[in-house]
Parts: sequence; structure tokens; C-alpha cells
Amino acid sequence: MSVQELKPIKEGKVREIYDNGDSLIMVATDRISCFDVILNNKVNKKGKVLTQMSKFWFDMTEDIIPNHMISVDVNDMPEFFREERFDGNSMMCRKLRMLPVECIVRGYITGSGWESYQKNGTVCGIRLPSGLKESDRLPEPIYTPSTKAEIGDHDENISYEESVEYLEKRFPAKGEEYASKLRDYSIALYKKCAGYALSRGIIIADTKFEFGLDENGNMVVGDEMLTPDSSRFWPAEGYEAGHSQPSFDKQFARDWLKANRDHNWTLPQDIVDKTIAKYLQGYELLTGKPL
Ligand SMILES: Nc1ncnc2c1ncn2[C@@H]1O[C@H](COP(=O)(O)OP(=O)(O)O)[C@@H](O)[C@H]1O
Ligand SMILES: [Mg+2]
Repeated sequence: MSVQELKPIKEGKVREIYDNGDSLIMVATDRISCFDVILNNKVNKKGKVLTQMSKFWFDMTEDIIPNHMISVDVNDMPEFFREERFDGNSMMCRKLRMLPVECIVRGYITGSGWESYQKNGTVCGIRLPSGLKESDRLPEPIYTPSTKAEIGDHDENISYEESVEYLEKRFPAKGEEYASKLRDYSIALYKKCAGYALSRGIIIADTKFEFGLDENGNMVVGDEMLTPDSSRFWPAEGYEAGHSQPSFDKQFARDWLKANRDHNWTLPQDIVDKTIAKYLQGYELLTGKPL
């Protein structure tokens, strides 16, 4: 008997998505990107770590909002997925009607937020206290949505008020309701999980959530959740405001690429091995158990 061959409906830089009727199967590969480029190396187990981390957070936040996860057990999936290369890194998910807003929460000031703050004291239109240093913790986490660009376009930061209008256009009479729910759920998810992560030695500086509507019109959190690919993870140990922080997972890779200009986007194996160890360590720190 031959197994029906399935093709992803979407191949992202790191993830592959398969259509499974009324569900989707999201597969996190072992590909890694640094400085927005996919490296030639595979980081063995990275896909598993990311999928299991999302599962961990979905389980932890069920009391805040329902999520799209159905199963991470390949035995619940079509036969095609019952293979080593999908085992542990695949998540079967409810198909949602996605809301076209990237829900970004920032608990610390860094990256583009820090650049903007230095120019005019604001981040995405939100005025922050004066005297903040790079990587400082914000008095309260802030919600800075952006539009989810159509293919080829860039995501664009919008204010909360603009997110109301943006959603209102696509979901008449629902703009205010959806925008406020997105903001409130995003902040609640971030607070609970970042607080937990900090108690385990990891700072989640910022992150991006995506939400959708289920068949009854209820809001559900989807996509991947609080992984190092959708968030900035910093080691809590050695954290100090006033300069940029090392990335929890990609620091070895980034440092090596910067120091070796003829890299051709290929890491030596010892750097790959150190990177794998960081992903495994991150998973263990957060969940308290080995992968
Ligand atoms: N439960 C879901 N139902 C439908 N679409 C989803 C669900 N979860 C996530 N998505 C969508 O799947 C896609 C994942 O693609 P991804 O590889 O992250 O690339 P990108 O973010 O560049 O579109 C995103 O468009 C995301 O909005
Ligand atoms: Mg994405």
C-alpha cells in the first residue's frame, strides 16, 4: 500500500504548512535564519524544540484564550506524517480565519523600538518615560500592532486606533471589539509567559502573536507561540541595560558570522553543535524537562 504523498501549501523560510481538510499541519524544520538569511546548515532538533515550546505555552495559557492546537502526535495525523522527519516537530491545528494583524508586545526596549525612542521618545506612537537605556525593561509592556503584509509588501507598524479602522474595514461593526481583544489577549499572554520565563532564567524581551477566528467566530490564538523565532529571548544571567543583549539561541551563530566575513552563510559544525545545545538548554530551562 502506498502512502499518499502530500505537498506543503506553503513553504516559509523555516516552516512548512500542509492542508489537511479542516485542519492544518504546521511543520517546523531544522532550518535557521540569521540576519534574515537562511543558513546552509541544519540545526538538528531545532524544529522539535520550537514545536514543543509552542505546545508548552499553548497548554499553559488555555485559561486565558483557546488555541489552535489539536495534536503534536503524528499518530493523529495522516500516514504521510508518521515518519521520523515529522515526529515531534509537527503540529496539527484547527484552521482559522486569520486576523491580518501582527500582535507585537514589547516588555523591553530594543531593536527598531530603541532606534525610534532615541529619535523622538516614542515607540510606534507610544510615548515612553525619558531616560531609558538600551535594553531597559519598560514600566509596563506595550502593545504595538502591525499590519500583516500581503506577499511582497512590508509589515507596517500601526497605532492601536489604526488597528481598529483596519479591522473595521475587513470585519464591519467588529473593528473595536477585535482590536481591543487582540490588544488585551496579547498583553495578558505576554505577562503570564514572560513572568514565568523570567523565573526560569530567560527574558522574553518582545514577541509576536497571531490570532484567528474559529467556525463560531470565537477568537483563538494560532501560529507559533513564544518561540525564539517569533520572540527575542535573552539570558537573564548577565542582563544589563545600556547596551544590546546577546540572543539566547543565535548568539554563537551571529558572532561567528560577524567574525568570519568569508562565511558563505555556512557555519562550522562546532558552532552548529553549540547552537543545538542552546536550543535544548532553552527548552529544558523553560519546561523543566529534557526534550
Ligand atoms: N490556525 C491557523 N489557520 C490558518 N492559518 C494559520 C493558522 N496559524 C497560522 N496561520 C498562518 O500560517 C502562516 C504561517 O506562515 P509562516 O511560515 O509563518 O510565514 P509568514 O508569517 O511569512 O506568512 C501565516 O500566514 C499565519 O498567519
Ligand atoms: Mg509567520
